[in-house]
Amino acid sequence: MSSEEILQEIALEVSTCASCKLCKGRTKAVPGEGNAHARILFIGEGPGYHEDKQARPFVGPAGQFLDELLASINLKRSDVFITNVVKCRPPNNRDPEPDEMAACNDYLDRQIAALQPQVIVTLGRFSMTKFFGSERISSIHGRARKKDGRICIAMYHPAAGLHRAELKDTIRQDFKKIPLIIAEAERLAAEQPPKVVVQKKKEEEPPPQQLSLF
Ligand code: URA
Ligand code: SF4
Repeated sequence: MSSEEILQEIALEVSTCASCKLCKGRTKAVPGEGNAHARILFIGEGPGYHEDKQARPFVGPAGQFLDELLASINLKRSDVFITNVVKCRPPNNRDPEPDEMAACNDYLDRQIAALQPQVIVTLGRFSMTKFFGSERISSIHGRARKKDGRICIAMYHPAAGLHRAELKDTIRQDFKKIPLIIAEAERLAAEQPPKVVVQKKKEEEPPPQQLSLF
C-alpha cells in the first residue's frame, strides 16, 4: 500500500474509534492531514473546539499562528503533515490523560511509519514527552536531537504563544531553525545509504531513497 492509502486507512479507523473515553464527547475525530510524502511532521496535543467541529487539525486560533509560523519559513500546509497525540477533543480542552494517550498512540506510530518523516516537530509538552521523555520544554525547546534515524525538535505549543506574549517571539525564533534542520536531515539521509549506491552511475539510476524524499 502507498503511504496515502495507509494514512487514509488510519483516518477511517480513527473516525469511528471508541478505544478510549474521549470518543464520548467528540463531534468528529481529527486524524491529521497533509502531504503523505512530507519530510516534516508536526505533532500537537489534541483537537480543540474548532478542530472537533471540522475534523481538521489546527484550524482555530493556534492553527492561525501555526500557519503564520509555517509561512515564515516558506512552508505551506500542503508541504507538511500535521497531527496530534490524541485524535479526539478532550472535554473543555483539558489535558489528555495517560490512558487516552496510550489508547491513541498506535495511530500516531502508524502515521509515523507510513510517512517516514526526516524531521519531527513536537508542539507542546505531551508530544514532547513521547520523544524526549521527562525533559522540561523550557530547557529543550528549539533543540534538535537525533532519534531512531530522524531528527526531532521540541517546540512550545503555538497556543502558548497566544497566551504568553514573551513566548511568541521564542516560538518564532525556534521555527526559524527548521530549514537548517531539514537540510541537516537531508545530509544525514544522503549519507546513510550504502556507499555503493551513491557510487553507482548516478544519471541512469538515481537511488530510490532519494526519490521517495520528495
Ligand atoms: N491544539 C492542538 O494541540 N491541536 C490542534 O489540532 C489544535 C489545537
Ligand atoms: Fe480512539 Fe484516539 Fe479518539 Fe481515543 S482519542 S477514541 S483512542 S481516536
